[in-house]
Amino acid sequence: MCGIVGIVGNQPVAGRLVDALRRLEYRGYDSAGVAVIENGKLDRRRAEGKLFNLERVLSDSPLDGHTGIAHTRWATHGAPTEDNAHPHFVDGVAIVHNGIIENFSELRDELIADGAKFSSQTDTEVVAQLVARELRNGVEKKAAVQSVLSRLKGAYAIALMFADDADTIMAARSGPPLAIGHGKDEMFLGSDAIALAPFTNQITYLQDGDWAILHRHGAEILDFDGNKVDRQKQISTAATFLVDKGNHRHFMEKEIYDQPEVVSHALAQYVNFNTGLVRDIASSIDFTKMPSLAISACGTAYLAGLVSKYWFERLARLPVEIDVASEFRYREIPLPAEAGALFISQSGETADTLASLRYCKDNGLNIGAVVNTVESTIARESDAIFPIMAGPEIGVASTKAFTCQLTVLAALAIGAARSRGHIDEKQEAELVHHLVEMPRMMSTVLNDIQPQIEELARELSKFKDVLYLGRGTSFPLALEGALKLKEISYIHAEGYAAGELKHGPIALIDEEMPVIVIAPHDRFFEKTVSNMQEVAARGGRIIFITDEAGAAASNLETMATIVLPNVDEIISPMIFALPIQLLAYHAAVFMGTDVDQPRNLAKSVTVE
Ligand code: G6P
Repeated sequence: MCGIVGIVGNQPVAGRLVDALRRLEYRGYDSAGVAVIENGKLDRRRAEGKLFNLERVLSDSPLDGHTGIAHTRWATHGAPTEDNAHPHFVDGVAIVHNGIIENFSELRDELIADGAKFSSQTDTEVVAQLVARELRNGVEKKAAVQSVLSRLKGAYAIALMFADDADTIMAARSGPPLAIGHGKDEMFLGSDAIALAPFTNQITYLQDGDWAILHRHGAEILDFDGNKVDRQKQISTAATFLVDKGNHRHFMEKEIYDQPEVVSHALAQYVNFNTGLVRDIASSIDFTKMPSLAISACGTAYLAGLVSKYWFERLARLPVEIDVASEFRYREIPLPAEAGALFISQSGETADTLASLRYCKDNGLNIGAVVNTVESTIARESDAIFPIMAGPEIGVASTKAFTCQLTVLAALAIGAARSRGHIDEKQEAELVHHLVEMPRMMSTVLNDIQPQIEELARELSKFKDVLYLGRGTSFPLALEGALKLKEISYIHAEGYAAGELKHGPIALIDEEMPVIVIAPHDRFFEKTVSNMQEVAARGGRIIFITDEAGAAASNLETMATIVLPNVDEIISPMIFALPIQLLAYHAAVFMGTDVDQPRNLAKSVTVE
């Protein structure tokens, strides 16, 4: 989603602002802009599309101010045009904004009735208009901004600057994150610490309901009532992170190949390699007596949760209530206060997931966050944080975060099974042994299947529709396969539980629609093969993703069979995730799409 940066600096800032925006590109955007204060005047450059368009405009006509704000916009109100791109200016007030001002149309009507003229269709502009009106009425800046904040409804992060004050940027957070960076005689503002990493690693995170006044030598942080609040300065680890694709064409490709390594980081956190058992996590969340577990998340994180439902229920005999967060938050689910709840989020900032968390918190549940960003809001609001250790994920389509989420959830489910008395130490050791084998298996699979998948992806890219089928934990994986393919290649894809084939999707089967069947040789194998037969009998083309035992046991004719090594059921979702990720990736490469930043998608969805 939108990215915000700001610098109250001691040297020209436009280039540095654009560099910082580049580090926020991964969030997804469709236009960008930068504004500075030069000799008591605001000036800006904006452009539709990617950052290189903005850079071109800036190189033709550079900006020279020492204080500035910049923005990548993911359109919500109004098309992604230059006029709607941020920063917006109203009478010497400049603003950039992330999120949605829910009462914007009411405020806009009020301002229009008061004579205001709007130059964009955005909800953002109402904020600048309101502040400008206060200033015209003689209210001083700090009071003006505070009174305007009290009128805004919705989830937003904003940054404001004023033509006549090159020593100040004001920022407010009600929902989407904002980080303040402390430099030497310079202060920085960013949507996350990654954006600020080249400038400083000394970060103060604004909390929900904070606003701040940044000057060249420091920042004052207040609550929305105007009381000063104390927020800790911390050393961010994002500073050590380089936005670098290595030898890969895309971040997504790099992140797919990073999986053996990052998954082993996740394992090291949750598994004691000396004892061969899961580390004791009971101090942070106690699965022992909870009657049920609620799980909620969005997108790929939700599908990781759905896989884990099978583990928690089967291994730990722990009933799981799971839903996508946009539904979960409004269902008014009756949840016992003794229950536990897990929220899974790569970014830790997804608005619906956070709202679901708060619902569970209000109901007194013990909350755990399975997150990649441990400094995130979801992490901060949880009783227990379970880092997934994936490192920053830049490709919008989640890959390594997914397998790391699965790794952590598998370890938690094994720990829960043990503490609830459903497996003994020997069984635990066996399951952990399989988890420990996983990184090596992943490396083998990634090396072995690449040429075959690339060739198959070329074929697949010729089709308009694809169906994915699976049973057990391969069902959520079928959903994830379809999600990956549609997200980045724009080929229409659906995932189904293989047993549901007969209840509808079978009507679509013909040779124009390949059916990708995910079927390790597990308890469900025979049943899934029967479904494959139903597809074959109707002339459907089958892409069979199985293991050595599965390939040996089936003699059906397929368009392609991808054979993975035999692995234990507990790690098959992580291993089988690899071919579906690579298939989507290579199909997208053949289609020539923008793999890392697919159209319309955002990495971190901080609005409803
Ligand atoms: C967006 C991203 C997905 C991600 C989902 C949930 O849709 O494009 O990759 O799975 O949000 O994000 P989260 O940060 O909460 O895991």
